[in-house]
Amino acid sequence: MELTPKQIEVVESVRTENPKILILSGAKRAGKTYVAILLYLGHIATYEGQGLSFVIGGATYSSIWRNILNDIENIIGREIKLDKTNAFEIFGNKIYVFDGSKSDSWKKARGFTAAGALLNEGTALHDNFVKEVISRCSYKGAKIIIDTNPENPAHPVKEDYIDKDGQRLESGRLNIRAFHFTLYDNVFLDPEYVESIVASTPSGMFTDRDIKGQWVAAEGVIYKDFDKNKHYIASMEGINFIRYFAGVDWGYEHHGSIVVIGEDDKGCYYLLEEHAHQHQEIDFWVDVVKEIQSRYGNIFFYCDSARPEHIQRFRRERIRAVNADKAVIAGIEEVARLFKTDKLKVVKNNVKRFDKEIFLYVWNEVTGEPVKQWDDVLDSLRYAIYTQLKPQRRRTGSR
Ligand SMILES: Nc1ncnc2c1ncn2[C@@H]1O[C@H](COP(=O)(O)OP(=O)(O)OP(=O)(O)O)[C@@H](O)[C@H]1O
Ligand SMILES: [Mg+2]
Repeated sequence: MELTPKQIEVVESVRTENPKILILSGAKRAGKTYVAILLYLGHIATYEGQGLSFVIGGATYSSIWRNILNDIENIIGREIKLDKTNAFEIFGNKIYVFDGSKSDSWKKARGFTAAGALLNEGTALHDNFVKEVISRCSYKGAKIIIDTNPENPAHPVKEDYIDKDGQRLESGRLNIRAFHFTLYDNVFLDPEYVESIVASTPSGMFTDRDIKGQWVAAEGVIYKDFDKNKHYIASMEGINFIRYFAGVDWGYEHHGSIVVIGEDDKGCYYLLEEHAHQHQEIDFWVDVVKEIQSRYGNIFFYCDSARPEHIQRFRRERIRAVNADKAVIAGIEEVARLFKTDKLKVVKNNVKRFDKEIFLYVWNEVTGEPVKQWDDVLDSLRYAIYTQLKPQRRRTGSR
């Protein structure tokens, strides 16, 4: 089995330094989980036939299957069947599988003695769960392996473990060893694939985290790749539209907003028009939609789900109103990727509020979330784009 140079470095550290807690953090697709699984199976094998307990933890059962168990099946060449306690046997030991994303997830691991744990996507796990699992690993020689993508630098995985790289136990055994991966560390990826990921990953935080694997805070303007000179267009002449859809963000004190998006035959998207108004009731918005429909037909409206009564009203008016997918960071990343790849353009003369928001919509550096200001048109744009594109991404698996 061939390993990348970075993976070899990790394996060498385990062989020579034998840390109790091993943390692999960094870029997506960098080869972290691959080596984590190999090392963990090797660890379990050293206790062969002893009937001990081990843990595999991840955010949800489906992510654990996708990221860990399917690969283990391939390596050991047989199917894994979880029993009633969500456990399976391997090398004469028992592996308990826990989903650890919720605040009470830690209770599952209570009162348990384990000889090891593999924790997948550390930042997606609840901090209490991570700490409980680590404290359960009290069997002699127990080892904890955590893999994770970077997040905010104040995240407990970073502050409590990665920043304590090199820490030793009283016995002298190395307690924590942390490794940092970049996308370029995975030398087995097709260079064209790497090139396309780099070219389509939005600038700023997304590139720093997903490509360089750095624990950086979100800061500054959110849509850093928006460029007036490239992304504003004067007219729609010569564009061959194949589809239209719309996004809706309800607002009263804040601006309510509806945007209409067009998709052309080359996979480009166009913000065709914006309707942003304060202090308007639902009857007003129904009229706006009727007028939009008179020009674009019976298109989908992807709506903020916060006001179900408004969506009901739209549906009574025979408007194709659908709950939008509101995942904030993933949605922003999708819109930002379109700007980065020059696949989202805006008809300059049809937008007013967008022109302000795009330069004023910023990250809150403390929470890592967007500041909830100057986001009304941009939220409706995000709902439209992300909800429309997500099923396509699932079908093709493309990035
Ligand atoms: N040594 C290797 N030999 C062959 N393929 C490898 C090797 N290391 C990693 N890969 C493959 O590269 C891809 C990415 O690896 P892996 O899933 O370990 O990345 P990751 O760092 O966990 O990424 P993510 O953060 O996205 O979960 C996988 O398809 C994996 O099978
Ligand atoms: Mg992984």
